[in-house]
Amino acid sequence: MKNSPNPFQEWLRFHQARVERALEHALPPAGTHPTHLHEAMRYAVLGAGKRIRPALVYAAGAALDTPAALLDAPACAVELIHAYSLVHDDLPAMDNDDLRRGKPTCHRAYGEATALLVGDALQSLAFHVLVHDPAGQTGPALPAAARLRMVETLAAASGSRGMAGGQAIDLAAEGRKLNLAELEDMHIHKTGALIRASVLLGAYSSPATDDGIIERLDRYAKCIGLAFQIRDDILDVEGETGTLGKTQGADAARAKPTYPALLGPGPAKLRARELFEETMDALATLDERADPLRWIAAYTVERNH
Ligand code: IPE
Ligand code: IPE
Ligand code: MG
Ligand code: MG
Ligand code: MG
Repeated sequence: MKNSPNPFQEWLRFHQARVERALEHALPPAGTHPTHLHEAMRYAVLGAGKRIRPALVYAAGAALDTPAALLDAPACAVELIHAYSLVHDDLPAMDNDDLRRGKPTCHRAYGEATALLVGDALQSLAFHVLVHDPAGQTGPALPAAARLRMVETLAAASGSRGMAGGQAIDLAAEGRKLNLAELEDMHIHKTGALIRASVLLGAYSSPATDDGIIERLDRYAKCIGLAFQIRDDILDVEGETGTLGKTQGADAARAKPTYPALLGPGPAKLRARELFEETMDALATLDERADPLRWIAAYTVERNH
C-alpha cells in the first residue's frame, strides 16, 4: 500500500523549495565582487533552515487567497532578516556559538568581520527585495501601498523595539534571574516580533482584508511567536546537537534565563500547549484555507529541531 502523504509535510516541502528558489535569485551570485562577502551571505542563507517564517507568509497569504507568486518577496524578506539575526546571534560577542544549521557558524567559516558585514548586507537586501520583487520574477506584482505597509512592519519588527531590542534584553539578562513577565517580554521581542511580522506581511498581501481578520491573524501570530521561542528553549535542554543542527545546552552554558530554567520543562511545555490552543481559537472562524496556519502552529510546539 502506498504511504498516505502527510499534507503538512508536503505543503511545507513545496513552500521551502519555493522560497529557496526566490532566495537564490535574490542573493548576489557567489562569484561577484566582493566574492568573500557574497559567498558568506549565501553560506548563511541557502541550503538549510526550516523556513518557518516564509512558511507563515505563504500560509497567511493563502488564508486570504493571495497567489503564492505575490508572496515570494515578503517570504524572502523575513528569511533574510532572520538569517542576519542568526549570524549576529552566534558571534562571540553574543551567544558565541560554533554550530548553526548543521555546519560551522558564519564567523567560524568566514571570520568575525565578514559575519558582521553579512548581517548588515542581509538586512539591507531584505528591504531591497521587499520593494523590488526577486530578479527573474514576471507577472503580477504587489501594489506599492502593500509594499510600503510591509516595509514599515518589517522595519519595526527588526529594530530596537523588536528583534534587535529583544537581543539587547537577552544579553543583559545573562546570568540573571528574570521573572515570568520579564522572560516573556524578552521572548516576544527577540523572536515573537519577526514571527508576528511574517504573518502580518502575508496578511497585508491581500487588498480587501477587514480589520477583524487582521486582528484574528495577529492574535494567532503573537501566540505562535512566543510558543516558538518556548519550544526553542525546551529543545536546548531536551534536544540533540545532531538533530538540532546547533549545540544543545548552549543556554545553560551561558546562564541564559529560559522557560524551562524558570518553570521547569513540564510547565514550559504546558505553556506552549496553552498558546497552541489559543492559536486555534484565534483561527476558529477561518475556513480550511487557514489549515496551513493551523499545521504550522501544531508543528511549532511539537517540533524536535
Ligand atoms: C532559531 O530559529 C532562532 C530563534 C529565533 C528561536 P529557527 O528555529 O527558525 O532556525 P532555523 O531557521 O530553522 O535554522
Ligand atoms: C535567537 O534566540 C533569537 C534571535 C533573534 C536570533 P536564541 O539565541 O535562543 O536562538 P538559537 O538557539 O541560538 O537559535
Ligand atoms: Mg541568542
Ligand atoms: Mg543563540
Ligand atoms: Mg535558543
